[in-house]
Amino acid sequence: MPDSTIESILHEERLFEPPAPFSDQAYVRSRREYEQLYSKATANPERFWAEQAEQELHWFKKWDTILDWQPPFAKWFVGGQLNISYNCLDRHLTTWRRNKAAIIWEGEPGDSRTLTYGELHREVCLFANAMKQLGIQKGDRVAIYMPMIPEAAIAMLACARIGAPHSVVFGGFSSEALRDRLVDAQAKLVVTADGGFRKDKVIALKEQVDLALEHGAPSVANVLVVERTKAPVTMVQSRDHWWHDLKSQVTADCPAEPMESEDMLFILYTSGSTGKPKGVVHTTGGYNLYTHLTTKWIFDLKDTDVYWCTADVGWITGHSYIVYGPLSNGATTVMYEGVPRPSNPGCFWDVIEKYGVNIFYTAPTAIRAFIRMGEEIPNARNLSSLRLLGTVGEPINPEAWMWYHRVIGKERCPIVDTWWQTETGGIMITPLPGATATKPGSCTRPFPGIVADVVDLEGQPVADNQGGYLVIKHPWPSMIRDVYGDTNRFRRTYWEHLTTADGQPLYFAGDGARRDSDGYYWVMGRVDDVISVSGHRLGTMEIESALVSHTSVAEAAVVGRPDDLTGEAIFAFVVLDSQQAPSEALAQALKQHVIQEIGAIARPAEIRFTDALPKTRSGKIMRRLLRSLAAGQEISGDTSTLEDRTVLDKLRGGN
Ligand code: WT7
Repeated sequence: MPDSTIESILHEERLFEPPAPFSDQAYVRSRREYEQLYSKATANPERFWAEQAEQELHWFKKWDTILDWQPPFAKWFVGGQLNISYNCLDRHLTTWRRNKAAIIWEGEPGDSRTLTYGELHREVCLFANAMKQLGIQKGDRVAIYMPMIPEAAIAMLACARIGAPHSVVFGGFSSEALRDRLVDAQAKLVVTADGGFRKDKVIALKEQVDLALEHGAPSVANVLVVERTKAPVTMVQSRDHWWHDLKSQVTADCPAEPMESEDMLFILYTSGSTGKPKGVVHTTGGYNLYTHLTTKWIFDLKDTDVYWCTADVGWITGHSYIVYGPLSNGATTVMYEGVPRPSNPGCFWDVIEKYGVNIFYTAPTAIRAFIRMGEEIPNARNLSSLRLLGTVGEPINPEAWMWYHRVIGKERCPIVDTWWQTETGGIMITPLPGATATKPGSCTRPFPGIVADVVDLEGQPVADNQGGYLVIKHPWPSMIRDVYGDTNRFRRTYWEHLTTADGQPLYFAGDGARRDSDGYYWVMGRVDDVISVSGHRLGTMEIESALVSHTSVAEAAVVGRPDDLTGEAIFAFVVLDSQQAPSEALAQALKQHVIQEIGAIARPAEIRFTDALPKTRSGKIMRRLLRSLAAGQEISGDTSTLEDRTVLDKLRGGN
């Protein structure tokens, strides 16, 4: 596409109306229907959510109170009892869906499995009983450190079934990062696999678990190991157990435990601007309802669809939109172990062709990688089954949006650009594909029941097209309930930055945004010290602590620098110990050290050695200056608070 077309899209904010054939069959068919739903939901959110909860979910016992809101603490459907594993499995078994594909799984080496709802239910019951045999009871935390195989979802559903909150740790995290999370959650059991396949290599997950436990996670009594790669592993007597051994010792009879609506469903760790990752706590009823309804309306999910979200179950996207949302709807959800790699750059398109995928949900960074690899790769496959596309994780640049629309969607598929966070549990600002005209780069308008705004530091709404802070004004069912073990941090991080004039706390998302005159939101990115690499959040402080823990490092400051592929890349300024001299070998060693401390996603793209960091007189690192330097820009703006002005000249000179 010529640059001039992109320019005109950028400046004229071209509208893409939902295609009529799509709208005709959609759950929400027009702008008018959306407006009606939206005003009904905001006029009386409690009634709206209660109606949906009654209609869409199975409750063992109905709630007494829809919402108990003592800011910032929300309780939804108080007194109600349900089980999300029941809603995802059991209730489908009495219908024709018993023999419908629940999970279609494709392994990276090309092996595959399909589990019907009946089969998945059986596996989940067996897994739940195996965990019980290892002493796991309601309330115990279970860590899940797995490759993308069906057993990852099975383990999550089994935890939910017996009321043991899970803490899924992304398989790309290092043993150190895993250990921190095990300790923080006081996990009793780790579910893992001998390994997984990623980019044609075997990832030795069990070995990482062994290391994590060696370094001390005393709460962990047992490890349950799923066989995947058959690579040799060490099994510690009485601590470690093979899943296939336990499976033959238990029955498939395991009724779903009635859970209180506000019982904890899971903890999921996410990076913040300060300190160690936070354990975001989600509970049962509200999360089940919100992920169910957003999946249904935003992906327009029908019983005939094959739906595929390419995320990893280790992230919130995998929790909400591979596992819980789709299965609660009785849908067919695809799970793929692999990622595009040099030996198979077209693997995503092969999966779409092989299974006739109708709905495809991926990340902008993946789309940018596909653009680089060339459109002949997707063009060589039959993508005609696709009817809807989605993106998540970071703002999508209009160029990537247009490519996705043209090359993958063949100008026929609506695109839903979905804004949300680990903390929000589900999608918050998004098009409804049959109703909302889209603008490339905008996540458009809030989901019914969600009251968003853009405000200034005083909590005052700003005018159209003015930049400000993105906030949510009314509690919603799947909102974060707490930071595990640190309620003060929960208050501080999300609720104490911004309040309305009359003192009501606003949920602060940490993103900057503007809203245009059509009420469309344009998210600009994080306003805190969080870097987004390929849509994954990393706290600058986490990476700095990892660097400083290396014996040669005296001080480090980490910033994001713009990157065409990953959105942002990690740029580290490092002050060495006086005995140490900068060298390429040392830079490599430091990168390796960060991988070991956190994982490959935190690897600095660039390390610049320096004698000193630019600081204010009170000792605060001036990241704004470092960000400009990392991006190769001139330093502009106020530098008067800088303590030592010669530092800047030295930094410009590199070493
Ligand atoms: C942060 C949340 C939600 C699942 C994936 C990431 C950014 C997410 C969008 C979007 C612009 C987006 C925000 C947000 N983000 N989706 N559609 N447009 N920015 O979850 O790790 O909790 O990160 O991702 O900055 O705050 P997460």
